[in-house]
Amino acid sequence: MTAAGAPDELTSVLRQIVGAEHLLTDPDLRAGYEVDWTRRFHGPCDAVVRPADTGEVAAVLGACTAAGAVVIPQGGNTGLVGGSVPGPAQGGRRVVVLSTRRLRAIGPIDDVVGQVTVGAGVTLAELEEAVAVTPWRVGVDLGARESATIGGMVATNAGGTRVVRHGMMRDNVGGVEAVLADGTVLSHLGGLLKDNTGYDIASLLCGSEGTLAVLTAVRMRLVPKDDERCVAWIGCGSWNDAVAVATSCRLRLRSLDGIEAVDAAAQRVVAEALQLSPPVEGTIGLLVALTVDGGPQLDTLAALAGERPVAVALDGPGASSLWERRDRVTEAIATTGVPHKLDVSVPLPAIPPFTAALPAVVTAAAPGAAVYVFGHLGDGNLHVNVVGPAPEEDAVDDAILRLVAANGGSISAEHGIGRAKQRWLHLSRSPEELRTFRAIKAALDPAGTLNPGAGPVLP
Ligand code: FAD
Ligand code: MLT
Ligand code: ZN
Repeated sequence: MTAAGAPDELTSVLRQIVGAEHLLTDPDLRAGYEVDWTRRFHGPCDAVVRPADTGEVAAVLGACTAAGAVVIPQGGNTGLVGGSVPGPAQGGRRVVVLSTRRLRAIGPIDDVVGQVTVGAGVTLAELEEAVAVTPWRVGVDLGARESATIGGMVATNAGGTRVVRHGMMRDNVGGVEAVLADGTVLSHLGGLLKDNTGYDIASLLCGSEGTLAVLTAVRMRLVPKDDERCVAWIGCGSWNDAVAVATSCRLRLRSLDGIEAVDAAAQRVVAEALQLSPPVEGTIGLLVALTVDGGPQLDTLAALAGERPVAVALDGPGASSLWERRDRVTEAIATTGVPHKLDVSVPLPAIPPFTAALPAVVTAAAPGAAVYVFGHLGDGNLHVNVVGPAPEEDAVDDAILRLVAANGGSISAEHGIGRAKQRWLHLSRSPEELRTFRAIKAALDPAGTLNPGAGPVLP
């Protein structure tokens, strides 16, 4: 491990490790790494370092820890809670953003078990393309697929639109390679389905948000490719109605991938910003995706929709078009301003009272703000987006997260804590749990190198 004490010494050590081309200190080159996707979170770094392989990641981390520097791991920078960028002040310590985007190896696809080992910097779209020629596909899908990396998706335990059937990232990971802050490499990529030989480090790192280790490779478990997929958009009269339909879908439709919902305000902004009108009338657009194995499932779907207006499409342009109206909600909202993104979950029966109370709660905290609600209804996961309050104001965040807690929910369903939600973590986790988080952090990263001020470990 290299000892690099003074700032310039650290820079020159990092340059030696990754090469001059991959150490960015010029402010213009650093800029894109210093602000997150939402534009709400940003902070300066001294350097961006782009290691090419696990050995270079280990050397970078060892050097930074020895120098007392802070390291912010960054993948595709699509996380929506500010965890992938530096904070406004990092305690006066040198700040290095470690970009994983050069960790792009995709190993051979094991067709027998449906697994593949990929570098942490491979994007979801790149992995999907690589497995497209096989009978397998990736079980997790999300709208940021072109940029979100597999390492980032593990680090956030990403969810997405197929959780009803395939679970979150944790359920799709068969092992990881990761580097601790002192440069120690942990590698367990065998992908055995049954392997009770001790603590499950891969599982621990799922959702660790770059605070415990830098993931360098992931053994992904793939799922069998569907034969034919059906997407249906059902116009529902209320959240109550949408929850009732969602429950019936879960009970009666086999091979259900996901049940998504988009409220009227979000449907309107998609129509206005992207020129994509809602396919049917209804206060809540309910999007149901499933694999069909012939007529019976479609008949069941039609029966479930009942008198409600419905648009159905089988695989192809029609299905893509229906899906686009859900996939691009985030993009549409971002055209209207810097959003306050509250990614929450509540028990399904609490969705109607929660959504009914929301407008008054938002108006009291942020008069005149626009509110959009959409998300993964099948998982009880709603994305409440508010546009209007200044990025640094958090009265509306506070009001909504307290309403979530009062309804028995979680302040973060799938995006993590990042820098956005540390203040409210106590609403979802007990003091004992927070102390345990801190003890785990102290064991793996005693110098506090990795992502301080972000994620589930409070400063
Ligand atoms: P980053 O944003 O770069 O980082 C996220 C966190 O992970 C940070 O704390 C960072 O420090 C850490 N990290 C990144 N890489 C590593 C690594 N290799 N090792 C250790 N720590 C690391 N999320 C969902 O869950 N479901 C969705 O449906 C969904 N849809 C989205 C749609 C859009 C349009 C956008 C913009 C975002 C969406 N997201 C969604 C959020 C985001 O895409 C996910 O959180 C994704 O997993 C982040 O991956 P990333 O590579 O961009 O990570
Ligand atoms: C989604 O489900 O579209 C995402 O998680 C992104 C968002 O919350 O905006
Ligand atoms: Zn989501």
